[in-house]
Amino acid sequence: MHPLAPLSALLGLAATSHASPFDQADTLTDCLTKAGVPLDTAGTPDYQLDVASFNLRLNYTPVAVAAVNTTKHIQDAVACASELGIKATAKCGGHSYASFGLGGEDGHLVIEMTRMNKVVLDNTTGIATAEGGTRLGHLAVELYNQGKRAISHGTCPGVGVGGHVLHGGYGVSSHTHGLALDWMVGATVVLANSTVVNCSETENPDLFWALRGAGGSMGIVSEFRFKTFEAPANLTYFVAPVQWPTEARALVGLTAVQEFAKTMPVELNMRLFIARRFVNLEGLYYGDKAGLQAALAPLIKTTNATLALAKTGDWMEQVKHFGGGSNIDQGHGHEEHETFYSTSLYTKELNDEQLQTFVGYWFKQAKNNTRDWYVQIDLHGGENSAVSKAASDSTAYAHRDYLLMYLLYDRVDKGEYPAEGHTVMENFAGNITQGMEKSDWGMYINYPNSRLDQTDAQTNYWGSHLAKLQGIKKEVDPEDVFHYPQGILPA
Ligand SMILES: Cc1cc2nc3c(=O)[nH]c(=O)nc-3n(C[C@H](O)[C@H](O)[C@H](O)COP(=O)(O)OP(=O)(O)OC[C@H]3O[C@@H](n4cnc5c(N)ncnc54)[C@H](O)[C@@H]3O)c2cc1C
Ligand SMILES: *[C@@H]1O[C@H](CO)[C@@H](O)[C@H](O)[C@H]1NC(C)=O
Ligand SMILES: *[C@@H]1O[C@H](CO)[C@@H](O)[C@H](O)[C@H]1NC(C)=O
Ligand SMILES: *[C@@H]1O[C@H](CO)[C@@H](O)[C@H](O)[C@H]1NC(C)=O
Ligand SMILES: *[C@@H]1O[C@H](CO)[C@@H](O)[C@H](O)[C@H]1NC(C)=O
Ligand SMILES: *[C@@H]1O[C@H](CO)[C@@H](O)[C@H](O)[C@H]1NC(C)=O
Ligand SMILES: *[C@@H]1O[C@H](CO)[C@@H](O)[C@H](O)[C@H]1NC(C)=O
Ligand SMILES: *[C@@H]1O[C@H](CO)[C@@H](O)[C@H](O)[C@H]1NC(C)=O
Ligand SMILES: *[C@@H]1O[C@H](CO)[C@@H](O)[C@H](O)[C@H]1NC(C)=O
Repeated sequence: MHPLAPLSALLGLAATSHASPFDQADTLTDCLTKAGVPLDTAGTPDYQLDVASFNLRLNYTPVAVAAVNTTKHIQDAVACASELGIKATAKCGGHSYASFGLGGEDGHLVIEMTRMNKVVLDNTTGIATAEGGTRLGHLAVELYNQGKRAISHGTCPGVGVGGHVLHGGYGVSSHTHGLALDWMVGATVVLANSTVVNCSETENPDLFWALRGAGGSMGIVSEFRFKTFEAPANLTYFVAPVQWPTEARALVGLTAVQEFAKTMPVELNMRLFIARRFVNLEGLYYGDKAGLQAALAPLIKTTNATLALAKTGDWMEQVKHFGGGSNIDQGHGHEEHETFYSTSLYTKELNDEQLQTFVGYWFKQAKNNTRDWYVQIDLHGGENSAVSKAASDSTAYAHRDYLLMYLLYDRVDKGEYPAEGHTVMENFAGNITQGMEKSDWGMYINYPNSRLDQTDAQTNYWGSHLAKLQGIKKEVDPEDVFHYPQGILPA
């Protein structure tokens, strides 16, 4: 039986018209309360935590916040929302740059997941289950403590597994071990009609495919299942600053980094971090310092980089290093904020003219921006990258073949972000892709550009996978219950 049937009978909801979500706030709260779904109500400290977006530039007001503990709570919350025509949004770590965990607009039912963060490792199979509200740092700690296991994922311990894994998950192990979503082997999902299904390569395989890249549009994952690898005991994290005082030097250096990316050894994971006042090569090497030095030697020669830091340690040491020194084991009450605009890009190998345009914009325009900006370029692809080695259509993540992945980020330390501030980074990206075919670049939904309309967003994030995703969306969520302004629309 449809789980909503008794509920709607109880509340007389069947004939409700779909008015503004805020007009229906009381009806929604009644429905949730009668179903036994815990709420974080306005004015409570928990509510304040829930609605405080990571990016303080983009604040949204939910119609209600369901503070779920169980899969049944998620089902009932989704049923109440969909019956009233209110959009439902899972919030895990709440670290979306465009505040998609709050729905990316006002008036959503936010389903706050972070009380569901149990992680259990099966020591005999190496398969772990993690509830859908788990943060990355907690996952890393638990996998390590329960059996010295790990998956590949991004660096920030407060980021949620929900948003991160379901949309990619690129980190300092990804060149060696692939994306976070490559470690997902199954999930338990609440669908828009409030039923629960499992999915894997063999069970509901289309849903499983779509979850791994566009999960936020498809359902709410209440539990992830991950395969894991043995956490290595011999890793070296490093920072290698470069001095490129002139445009000419930067052009030679950037060209050399790109060339190196094409054949970089699989053990090396690296990004070029361009900030206003410094430029670093930084990353993680699977092996000791001598191995790192040998791997980097050709690049050090062509870029004049200095290996300023190279420290060998075990898995958790590098997790802590890249986690920025804060507490790694983050749970429900985590708080972290910045005020910024950001956008992203993937490109193939840039040609000489494109490299010149890049460096020209960097030195003549970006350097003139006195805010705290950076451009982080992950050496994402190349012939040895585990991300690019997997078949490009193996998951919904559409951008495996790109060599470089850019995050362009511009923040203010205090006060408001200026109204026209976005032009600096938007034009930076625009100058790099100028003249390229639309099919020759993409964007990363985990580094979203909040200014895109839904049509451009879908094309830029999901490229050639979009049509298939819209077809699956029509099957699992025809009414777009899990709507957000840059999500997949049903075919
Ligand atoms: C400090 C910082 C560092 C970062 N570093 C990296 C990095 O190294 N590599 C990288 O790839 N990315 C990185 N990111 C980006 C990060 O991966 C994304 O912001 C990610 O989407 C955040 O996930 P979340 O669960 O915290 O976000 P939320 O805002 O809670 O959710 C983001 C989206 O996922 C959906 N969602 C969340 N949970 C679920 C669920 N259980 N089921 C279905 N949908 C769900 C939400 O509805 C929303 O659409 C970083 C972000 C920050 C803020
Ligand atoms: C949900 O979990 C919280 C914290 O673990 C607990 O205090 C609360 O009683 C639980 N609520 C329900 C309805 O299970
Ligand atoms: C799991 O494996 C680890 C490492 O081999 C071991 O230390 C630990 O005791 C095991 N835990 C259980 C519950 O078997
Ligand atoms: C999903 O799989 C889990 C773990 O195997 C199992 O406990 C659960 O009953 C399954 N749920 C459904 C709806 O099939
Ligand atoms: C490296 O240093 C040499 C010698 O100072 C210089 O000629 C060259 O331009 C530098 N290269 C880069 C990329 O900085
Ligand atoms: C550490 O890694 C290097 C390769 O960089 C390898 O030669 C060495 O044997 C490893 N040491 C240990 C203790 O595993
Ligand atoms: C650089 O910044 C200054 C002061 O903020 C401004 O007057 C100038 O027009 C800027 N130059 C460019 C090329 O943007
Ligand atoms: C390139 O940058 C310039 C200077 O900021 C800007 O005027 C122009 O619109 C940008 N070009 C593109 C295609 O974005
Ligand atoms: C719920 O939606 C799924 C996916 O479209 C469908 O397979 C299932 O039959 C639906 N269940 C009910 C009870 O409507």
